[in-house]
Amino acid sequence: MPAEPVNDWSTDYDIFAREYIRDPFPIWDQLRASPCPVARTDRWGGSWMPTRYEDIVTFARDIQHFSSRNVLVADVMPAPDAEEQDLSEEDQRLVQQYDVGAPPITSDPPVHTWARRLLLPPFSVTSVTKLEPETRELCNALIDGFIADGRADGAADYAQRIPPRVIASMLGIPKEMTSTFTDWVRGFLELGLTDPELRQQSGRSIFTFMIEQVQQRKEHPGDDLISYLLGQKVDGEPVPEPHVVGTCFLLLVAGIDTTWSSIGSALWHLAQHPEHRRQLIEQPELIGNAVEELLRAYSPVTMARYVAADVEYAGCPMHEGDKVLMNFPAANRDPSIFDHPDQVILDREKNPHIAFGVGIHRCAGSNLARMEMKVAIQEWLRRIPDFRLEDPHAVTWAGGQVRGPRKMAVVFPS
Ligand code: HEM
Repeated sequence: MPAEPVNDWSTDYDIFAREYIRDPFPIWDQLRASPCPVARTDRWGGSWMPTRYEDIVTFARDIQHFSSRNVLVADVMPAPDAEEQDLSEEDQRLVQQYDVGAPPITSDPPVHTWARRLLLPPFSVTSVTKLEPETRELCNALIDGFIADGRADGAADYAQRIPPRVIASMLGIPKEMTSTFTDWVRGFLELGLTDPELRQQSGRSIFTFMIEQVQQRKEHPGDDLISYLLGQKVDGEPVPEPHVVGTCFLLLVAGIDTTWSSIGSALWHLAQHPEHRRQLIEQPELIGNAVEELLRAYSPVTMARYVAADVEYAGCPMHEGDKVLMNFPAANRDPSIFDHPDQVILDREKNPHIAFGVGIHRCAGSNLARMEMKVAIQEWLRRIPDFRLEDPHAVTWAGGQVRGPRKMAVVFPS
């Protein structure tokens, strides 16, 4: 059933409305300029939505009132008791035993502190740099597959295929399963946000797959991230196995459509801006700045917080159990922080963007994401310096939790 159209974005916004997914920027401008800085909706389980940079930073830092125990932007619940009816006894036992969420993103301190610390060494700049040659080779193999055709889908044939293979390589899970991983992650975080059965099914597929992988690594440890996590200790004890499963679940989910969306948006922008393609080709040293600017302008990720105790914020009465959307993408277009926020300025000097979040949950995979974006853009421009969108109106976008192009045909001289 099509959703009711939105008449007032400040009291009834719809993050899944087509116009919002396709072009949210004027809506955020309008909300940011309105007298009440925090918008409200009853749709999709109800939520509050700040759009100003300072407000979002304040929410992110106030971990007493704004918990991470539920970070999904929509709470569309399955039919009553559907979960219990569907699950076998064995599945129910597993769900209880493994009920730790997806640490560290769904944890608050004190668990968050050690859960995050475990991830810092494998995602350091040094560790991630070692994956660069493999990523470059992968990008070139993908380009080899379509360059002679003079056309490709920049989202589906390229951007979408890079992050799942890189994270599969880190976790030591089968690279030939990457399209299955992509389907699961989309089912959980994209299509499943408005389809609770699909979300449950996809979540369960990832979860049972990770349980099996963890069991295998216990018997045959390897040189991979799952074995690394199993070998770590907390307070002198091995990291509990359900925790390892939950973290691996998160890495698969967080590592895939976030980065794929950013690479896709970067290509979408470059396809329409020959002057920026030229600038990057003539000044290759700008790539680091360009990645940051493209992340700012097309930030993909909106997270949520759970109101842990009643609190009033700027006159908004927030009650325990309410949801607040951490609209990092809107913060990154705030004119009080960024000059000409709607312009992409590849050599922008001052760019304190929060595309990776801010505060204790700031993205632990940011070095990896940056490396993947850099390599994907560099290799594309090296091999296909001149390209354009085949039909700008035919591009499709996903949105809600993670925004990025999903179908994006581009053409180029072959
Ligand atoms: C361009 C790509 C990416 C973007 C824009 C992005 C964005 C974010 C954001 C906004 C957060 C903060 C969540 C919050 O405040 O609730 C976050 C957290 C996180 N991200 Fe990313 N992410 C990206 C790629 C990745 C990758 C490739 C990985 C690893 C495979 C990753 C792993 C994580 C983890 C583990 C956290 C949780 C950190 C914590 O709770 O302490 N992300 N990410």
